[in-house]
Amino acid sequence: MNFDFRNWAIHVGDPHPFNDERPRPDNGTARPDPSRFYTCEIWDAEWEKMFTKTWLLAGVESDIPDTGDWLRFEIGTESFVVVRQDNGGVKAFYNVCPHRGSQIALADFGSANSFVCPFHSWKFDIKGKNIEVTDEETFHPDVLCHGTDLSEVRCETAAGLVFISMNDEVMPLADYLGEVADHLALYDISEMVVVQHKKSDWAANWKGGVDAFYEIYHLHSVHPQTQAVMDDRTQIDLFPNGMSRQFVPFAQPSPRFPDQETVNEGIKMMLADAGIDPDTFEGTAKDSRAAIQQAKRARSEKYGLGYDKFSDTQLSDSTIYGLFPNIQIGCHPEAVFIHRFLPDPKDPEQFTYETIILFKPEDIPGHKPPAWMGLAEDADTSGMMRPDIEHTGLGVPPELGEVLDQDSELLPIVQKGARSRGFKGPLWSEQEARLRHFHVELDRYLDGEN
Ligand code: FES
Ligand SMILES: [Fe+2]
Repeated sequence: MNFDFRNWAIHVGDPHPFNDERPRPDNGTARPDPSRFYTCEIWDAEWEKMFTKTWLLAGVESDIPDTGDWLRFEIGTESFVVVRQDNGGVKAFYNVCPHRGSQIALADFGSANSFVCPFHSWKFDIKGKNIEVTDEETFHPDVLCHGTDLSEVRCETAAGLVFISMNDEVMPLADYLGEVADHLALYDISEMVVVQHKKSDWAANWKGGVDAFYEIYHLHSVHPQTQAVMDDRTQIDLFPNGMSRQFVPFAQPSPRFPDQETVNEGIKMMLADAGIDPDTFEGTAKDSRAAIQQAKRARSEKYGLGYDKFSDTQLSDSTIYGLFPNIQIGCHPEAVFIHRFLPDPKDPEQFTYETIILFKPEDIPGHKPPAWMGLAEDADTSGMMRPDIEHTGLGVPPELGEVLDQDSELLPIVQKGARSRGFKGPLWSEQEARLRHFHVELDRYLDGEN
C-alpha cells in the first residue's frame, strides 16, 4: 500500500555523526483501547510494571554540583533524594526514614553534610548510612538489626542528566538510552544552568500530555500562529526502547501558510535570536532559515563556541528527543527545554506538566535561549541564582507562553473524549509515528515482555 509517510529527511546529508535516517520499526496498525487514558487499573499496571521498572529522569546534574548538594524528585506515590557524593558521583535514596517512615527531605533542593529526620532526628550521612539513632539504648538490638540506613535506588548520569530506577535489575542507563545519550551529549547540558522551572496541573492523563507533545500534526489547528514560523515537514526517527527524535524546521513558514515570502514578525524574532538585524535583512522568508544557520556558524567561529559538531539543522531548528517513558527534550545549541509528564498517583485523569529551561551562559552579546521558549525578559541567565520551582494548580492558566497555554486548554477537552462510548481509540497517522512507538513500548511493559 502506498501512503505518504510525511517523513522529510531534512537532516540526512548534513555533515554530522548522527545524520542517517533510521529504518522504521514495524509498530503495527492497532487501535489501542481508550481505557488506557482514564482507568485506575491501567494506571496501577503502569506504575507496577513500567514506572517502577524503567529509568526515570530525576533531575539535572548542574543542580547538584558540589558534595552534599541534593535534589528531591517526586513521581507517583514515591519521593527520592539524589545526592552528590565526595567522589563526584551521585547516589539516590527513597525519601523515607527507616524508623517510622517520615520523609526526610522536605524541600526541592538543599545542601548538607547529613540528613536529619524531622520526626525523631535520626541522622544519615550523604551515602545514606545511619550515623545516629536517637536514644539508641532504648531499642532492643534485634529491632535495629532490621536495618537503619536509607533505602538506596539505582542512580546513573548521562549527558548532564540524572536518572534513577527503582528496579535493581534494570539494564545500564547507557544501554537504555542507546545512541540518544550520544546525541544529547553534543549539547553540553552539564554546563547549562536552570533559568526557569515551572509545574502546572492539567486535567488529562499523563499520556495525553506525552502524545500532544510528540507530534506537530495539531499545530495548524491548535497553534495557528506557529504556521508562520514552523514547517510541518519534519524528520522523525525511532530508536530502541521507545526513544524517538524529531527535527522541526524553524524560521520557515509551513506550506499551509499562505504567505511564503514576507519576513513575518515570528521570523523576525528568530533572525534577531541569531544576531541578524531583521530590519536590514534583505532575504525573504524562504532565505531566513539558511541565514540563521550561517549567522550561528559565524557567531561560533567568532566566539569559539564549537558549533562544528552541529549540523545546520541543529543550529536553526528544534531537535526534539523523546525519552521513554515521560520526557521530551527540545535541543538547541544555546539552551534545552525539558518537558516532564508526571502522572497523578490518585487520579489517572490528571497529570503535572513540568518544564525546565537550561541555558549555557556565554559572555556574548545577544546570546540567550531561543525566544520561543518564552523565558521572561528579566529572567536571570547568569546561572548565579537557581530559580524556585513555580507550581500552578488545576484550572489556573499556567502562563507558560501562548503555545503551551493553548495546549493546556486543549488537553482537558481531549481527555473528556477519551471516556466517550463513541471513541474507540486513537487512529495514528505517520506524522504521529512517535506516539505509536511510545505506546507500543508501554504495552511491552504492561504485557510483561520488558
Ligand atoms: S521517623 Fe525518622 S526518626 Fe522517627
Ligand atoms: Fe501543542
